[in-house]
Amino acid sequence: MDDTELRAVASLIRDANRIAVFTGAGVSAESGIETFRQPQTGLWARYDPMELAHVDALARDPETVTRWYHWRFSKCADAKPNAGHHAIAELQRLKRARGGGVDVVTQNIDGLHQAGGAEDVIELHGSILRWRCQKTGSMRAIEEVDFSAFPPRSEAGGILRPDIVLFGEMLPEAALEAAERAVLSCDVFLTIGTSAVVYPAAGYIEMAISRGVPSVEVDPDATPMSTHMTHTLAGPSGDVLPRLLEHMGVGDDTERS
Ligand code: OAD
Repeated sequence: MDDTELRAVASLIRDANRIAVFTGAGVSAESGIETFRQPQTGLWARYDPMELAHVDALARDPETVTRWYHWRFSKCADAKPNAGHHAIAELQRLKRARGGGVDVVTQNIDGLHQAGGAEDVIELHGSILRWRCQKTGSMRAIEEVDFSAFPPRSEAGGILRPDIVLFGEMLPEAALEAAERAVLSCDVFLTIGTSAVVYPAAGYIEMAISRGVPSVEVDPDATPMSTHMTHTLAGPSGDVLPRLLEHMGVGDDTERS
């Protein structure tokens, strides 16, 4: 990634009033959370999503599925937001202070954008930090779930499952609508750390491209969307995003004036 490209994107972002940031597993990679599709290390290279992350698997074998998500939660619980999460939150604060905004739309279930200071995060695939009773629909924070047996159960006797979107399930309507509003109202669209192959979420990238707003991809590897982007910044988000803020002059007179 050369500095010219970085400067061009920094200038786009500096001038934008509303920015939509769309993220995937890559933004949390530097926090130690596995991505899904990287060869060898990706979760789906080691585990079968149809056995562990499909709604039919939950119905067939709730013990195995809830145990696996509890294991995944333990990884998230140990993780801290990285410089990329912090940079996104900083950008949001900056734009809000100037009457604009940054909408953060994520496919991640790890809560790290919020832990890094981002607000009103739109979670397309739910959150592993909330678990839901299958019998009553009531929700509880993961700290309130008793994991001494699997599957965990509520006081009402229902199975508690993570409040996430499994394969074969619909995405939450409110999040879909909020994400669409974000994409339709942005002046600049950023996609960060997603392979952009899982729909309907990846459709928001296409929506932004078809609107013709400047679009930027941050990812160390090329994705199916790379060639359609106005700019691509090839590198890890924990490195690229703070550098972008530096080039915007955050903290000096250029950005404040
Ligand atoms: P993937 O694993 O498909 O893609 C991760 C992307 O992050 C790839 O393009 C990597 O090149 C990139 N990447 C890796 N390290 C990075 C870094 N340090 N900085 C920036 N980018 C980096 O993950 P997602 O696209 O998020 O859904 O996957 C989408 C959905 O598929 C997930 O939400 C999950 C999964 O199945 C469900 O479980 C419903």
